[in-house]
Amino acid sequence: MSKPTSADALQMAENFSADGTPQNAEIWSGGHINTSFRITFSENTPPRRYLLQRINAHVFPQGNLIMENIRRVTLHVFGMLQSTGVQNMERHFLSLVPTKQGGFCVQDADGHFWRMYPWVEGTQTKLQVETTGQANSAAFAFGDFLRLTADLTHPPLHTILPDFHHTPKRLQALQEAVQSNPKNRLDSAADALALVEELTPDACILQTLLDQKQLPWRPVHNDTKISNVLFDATNQEALCVVDLDTVMPGSALHDFGDMARSMATRTPEDGRNENGDWVEAKVDTELFAAVCHGFLQGAGDSLAALEKQHLLLSAQALATELGARFLMDYLLGDTYFGITRPQQNLERAQTQLGIAKEFLQRKEELEKVAFMG
Ligand SMILES: Nc1ncnc2c1ncn2[C@@H]1O[C@H](COP(=O)(O)OP(=O)(O)O)[C@@H](O)[C@H]1O
Ligand SMILES: [Mg+2]
Repeated sequence: MSKPTSADALQMAENFSADGTPQNAEIWSGGHINTSFRITFSENTPPRRYLLQRINAHVFPQGNLIMENIRRVTLHVFGMLQSTGVQNMERHFLSLVPTKQGGFCVQDADGHFWRMYPWVEGTQTKLQVETTGQANSAAFAFGDFLRLTADLTHPPLHTILPDFHHTPKRLQALQEAVQSNPKNRLDSAADALALVEELTPDACILQTLLDQKQLPWRPVHNDTKISNVLFDATNQEALCVVDLDTVMPGSALHDFGDMARSMATRTPEDGRNENGDWVEAKVDTELFAAVCHGFLQGAGDSLAALEKQHLLLSAQALATELGARFLMDYLLGDTYFGITRPQQNLERAQTQLGIAKEFLQRKEELEKVAFMG
């Protein structure tokens, strides 16, 4: 089956045990991987809306394992929220709508899994951080997610994407691309490759600490971008984190590092502003402080001392890792990350590596900022 239509979605929605009958399905654009629809069920006043999603079986062949993880996480977090008397829990975390057959997902004839969540009304998402308030609030929400899921370790959640943030393996893959050099692009990549070499020792420290079990493996979100946070449209507070497909065992520092490298900068991801001018990679001190403070507050006591000690290093490591992935794709001919101009992946790599270098050079100053206030 190619992309499902609204008619397919309406038919699929019949399988879920929501109030009323599905009346309307709108395609809900967003990600490139799953296909989402906003479904309106009527016979209620007011009508109720839901997010119906088809998990892409080509990218996630183990859709059943994703659903098992999400089922455990949603149940666990609801239990935690309930025990602390949080009001309007359904606005603070996703819940799976049961199917009429008694499960939580339906597999279609092509093998894709479908699931449905209640739509959280009165919310907005952002594609990019605009204010320090948003950065602080989003980071709190992702930190809170780690706190709420910290006990979910027996048994561990399923690993959906093995070695997702295994930085040494990502760097090794880059070296293999350098060796094969299929597009003869080594000359233009020389400066970026030299920067990777400089950043490599620090970037590999987290994996060593994880391998030695000094850093804990714990449930992590693994896609901590701002577009995966629902903000209350009235007061702009982060209400709820979404997109739970990549939740699996990892390091809290993967979530923090990815958030800090993406939210604590105003540099465009590919280094070019709207006029096409090159923008030097910079870490924005206020945004970085907002991300750190929000995260530390949200994660609270669930963070180990060693995790706290490596916040800055993780931001540097995650920026290096992503920079290496962009650079590898550039060397291999832009087969993974889509491009709209020839050197875009090289410039994406230069931007991430530039951000990593900023974290390295401004370590002392930024470390102070992280724990102040
Ligand atoms: N329960 C929900 N209520 C309201 N909006 C939602 C809900 N879940 C997701 N969204 C919106 O849909 C978008 C896409 O959902 P997401 O699960 O992140 O899928 P994708 O894999 O496409 O990124 C989100 O960025 C958010 O704007
Ligand atoms: Mg998303």
